Amino acid sequence: MEYRHFNCILCLLRGTKALFRSCPHNYRFSQVVALHVAAAPTTKLFIDGKFVESNSSEWLDIHNPATNEVVGRVPKATQDEMLAAVDSCSRAYKSWSNTSILSRQQIFLRYQQLIKDNIKELAKMITLEQGKTLADAEGDVFRGLQVVEHACSITSLMLGETLPSITRDMDTYTYRLPIGVCAGIAPFNFPAMIPLWMFPIGMVCGNTYLMKPSERVPGCTMLLAKMLQDAGAPDGTLNIIHGQHAAVNFICDHPAIKAISFVGSNPAGEHIYERGSKNGKRVQSNMGAKNHGVVMPDASKENTINQLVGAAFGAAGQRCMALSTAIFVGESREWLPELVERSKSLRVNAGDQPGADVGPLISPEAKARVESLIQSGVDEGAKLLLDGRNVNVKGYENGNFVGPTILSNVSPSMTCYKEEIFGPVLVVLEADSLDEAISVINNNPYGNGTAIFTTNGATARKYTHEVDVGQIGVNVPIPVPLPMFSFTGSRGSFRGDTNFYGKQGIQFYTQIKTVTSQWKAEDATVTSPAVTMPTMGR
Ligand SMILES: *[C@@H]1O[C@H](CO)[C@@H](O)[C@H](O)[C@H]1NC(C)=O
Ligand SMILES: *[C@@H]1O[C@H](CO)[C@@H](O)[C@H](O)[C@H]1NC(C)=O
Ligand SMILES: *[C@@H]1O[C@H](CO)[C@@H](O)[C@H](O)[C@H]1NC(C)=O
Repeated sequence: MEYRHFNCILCLLRGTKALFRSCPHNYRFSQVVALHVAAAPTTKLFIDGKFVESNSSEWLDIHNPATNEVVGRVPKATQDEMLAAVDSCSRAYKSWSNTSILSRQQIFLRYQQLIKDNIKELAKMITLEQGKTLADAEGDVFRGLQVVEHACSITSLMLGETLPSITRDMDTYTYRLPIGVCAGIAPFNFPAMIPLWMFPIGMVCGNTYLMKPSERVPGCTMLLAKMLQDAGAPDGTLNIIHGQHAAVNFICDHPAIKAISFVGSNPAGEHIYERGSKNGKRVQSNMGAKNHGVVMPDASKENTINQLVGAAFGAAGQRCMALSTAIFVGESREWLPELVERSKSLRVNAGDQPGADVGPLISPEAKARVESLIQSGVDEGAKLLLDGRNVNVKGYENGNFVGPTILSNVSPSMTCYKEEIFGPVLVVLEADSLDEAISVINNNPYGNGTAIFTTNGATARKYTHEVDVGQIGVNVPIPVPLPMFSFTGSRGSFRGDTNFYGKQGIQFYTQIKTVTSQWKAEDATVTSPAVTMPTMGR
């Protein structure tokens, strides 16, 4: 099905279910950008299978980061609305958890096709609200789609274990079962990928799901919810609320919610972990990061410089897996001028403009923060090799743009090293040896991702064994694992026991029931009909 021919976007956003051909507006999906600006539509809540207008008196504006124009509004859901959403999840859980695993699988098989058919439409929505370039936004959807595809293998993923003949006539086996209502709290930087790490895995296991997308970028999650409904998910299996602190605390406190998945900043993640756990919930909390790329002098120079530039400045550095810190070992430091030249050639522009490489930051506050961290580097003695402040983007003078920026001669005590900058800023340190580089990284509180660039296998092996970070790339700058593995951030980057998606994701969203049964051989029915060859006529 081609999604854009199915629903009028205005009907969708306004919550009416008119079909494209019969509705009065005839807005196609591809007109979503113009429409958003013209109508500044209100974002609906998704409660019990209906897109409903909130009764809230408190609303937040959604801005296009390239222009700072208001493109929509999102409510802070009222207490009653949040309760209605959880109650709907609880009601739906009774039948959904009892739906056969094959029917759940079928729904997600249809869902992955719907997402695949509409990647471009979803990407437009992401670029509008989040700012990243269209190509990058498609990547955002694609990485989430891969998780949905993986969810379709639930019939293998949810297998239990069996051990026969534990002792005489006694067998033990386990079932994996859903746990109840689960909730997800998503950040602004990946409007498709991170929500798709959450509800598809939770739901395919038989849980129902309450999602709170980021209030800055709710549009993509609303489209994803509509598609899931169209794929056949019953009413109430997914509910969506919007808001800020009150909604987060509501999720941490409501007794019906059994598990919380969170991705976002450290202060929020620590708070949710503490408060949710105290209330007896499972919590997985992916937080801030400081990812180091180590450049060895034997690395392939061309490739390494390109990878560094892409990973530091792609998505304007607003990725927790952005390679925000480079450690040049030995004479590789002589490559810095070339790194600067390559970075200068990136085009800073609105995400929907052809050829854009670096889009805007999410908000004026984010821009001010990044600029002040750059200044702190200068003040504390770093060398500003490339300054992206005051970048001029023609036609988008009000956007939150910062161009690629490189600070060198940075030391671990500087603020620009200690803080996660979350902007297009590469911080460069130098080291005399691999051991020195490893010790810098192991002393950093975060453990999200890291990469080494080298052509020497022994160097790479030593690095992967000695560095204390959850995800390592060898000549791969952003080592976010595919969904058959898990997202294994570590140390200050993670709180919880089981990580997102992959085997650990299934563990997070299921509980195990273990059955030990004894059926004594001597009790077997012996008076069964004779199955031996009848010997008539004897
Ligand atoms: C808003 O209030 C009206 C009238 O009280 C009610 O019928 C409706 O369900 C409320 N909407 C939501 C989303 O709770
Ligand atoms: C589960 O579903 C079956 C039919 O598929 C039904 O007979 C049974 O009552 C349901 N159990 C519960 C607890 O809802
Ligand atoms: C690491 O990076 C990912 C992807 O950008 C991000 O979502 C996450 O919050 C970060 N932290 C951890 C522990 O994974």
